[in-house]
Amino acid sequence: MMALLIRVSKQVQRKSFQNPLLYRLSSECSASRKGPESKEECKWMFGSSQEILAVVRGHVEVRQNFISEEEENVLFKEVETGLRKKRYEFDHWDDAIHGYRETERLQWGVTCESVLRRVRAVAFPEDSPLLGPVHVLDLDKDGYIKPHIDSVKFCGSTIAGLSLLSDSVMRLTPENKSTDWVDLLLSRRSLYILRDDARFKFTHGILKDEESFFSGQKVPRHRRISVICRNLPV
Ligand code: OGA
Ligand code: MN
Repeated sequence: MMALLIRVSKQVQRKSFQNPLLYRLSSECSASRKGPESKEECKWMFGSSQEILAVVRGHVEVRQNFISEEEENVLFKEVETGLRKKRYEFDHWDDAIHGYRETERLQWGVTCESVLRRVRAVAFPEDSPLLGPVHVLDLDKDGYIKPHIDSVKFCGSTIAGLSLLSDSVMRLTPENKSTDWVDLLLSRRSLYILRDDARFKFTHGILKDEESFFSGQKVPRHRRISVICRNLPV
C-alpha cells in the first residue's frame, strides 16, 4: 500500500552522488544568515549553493533530540512487533526504497501516543486532516531511499518523520534543476518536517551508507526506523 505513496523521479536517479568535489564547492548556510538561530540551523542543513538553501529555508525543519532515549526505546518496542513478521525487501529494482520493511499503525500505547501528539502539534496546522495510520519504515543497514516525491494524490503538504536507531542524511533535490541539492542531517531521535515547496518541488531520499556524508563528514548508516506522519491533500 505504501508503495503507492511514492514516485521515483527517473531523472534524478541517474545522477551520481559520489563526487567529493560537490562537498568542497558547497557553501554553508550560516554565511548569509544573521541572528541566534543561524548556527543551530547549520548543524543540520547543508547545500550546494546559497540560492538553493534560500529556496528551502522555512520549508524544512529538523529538531534534534525531539524524543528522549526512553521514548525511542518504547517506540522501537512497539513498532518492532509489527515489523518482525515481515521480511526486508531488496530485489524490486524499480522500487523507490531498497532494503526495507514497513508497517502501519493506528493504535498506540500511552507513551507513543503522547510523542505522536507532540509531533502533530509542531508539524501540522491545527485544522489539517491527517492520514490516519502512521507509517513505520525500517531500513536495513544496506537499505536506502531513492529520490522521490510522495504521492500528491494521497498525501498533503506536510511530511513529518522521527528517526530511530541511526543518524542518516536526507537529500533534497530540486525536480527541475538536478545539479543543486540540500542535505539534512537527520540525527537519531530527531524530527524532520518537509513542507510545501520542499515537499512538492524537491525530491527527497535517504542516502545509502557508502554515500552517507554530511558537509563532508561521514555519517555511518546503521539500521534505521522512521515513524512518519502525513496529512491529507486538501
Ligand atoms: C517515504 C520516505 C523517509 C524516511 O517513505 O516516502 O520518504 O524518513 N521516508 O524514512
Ligand atoms: Mn517520501
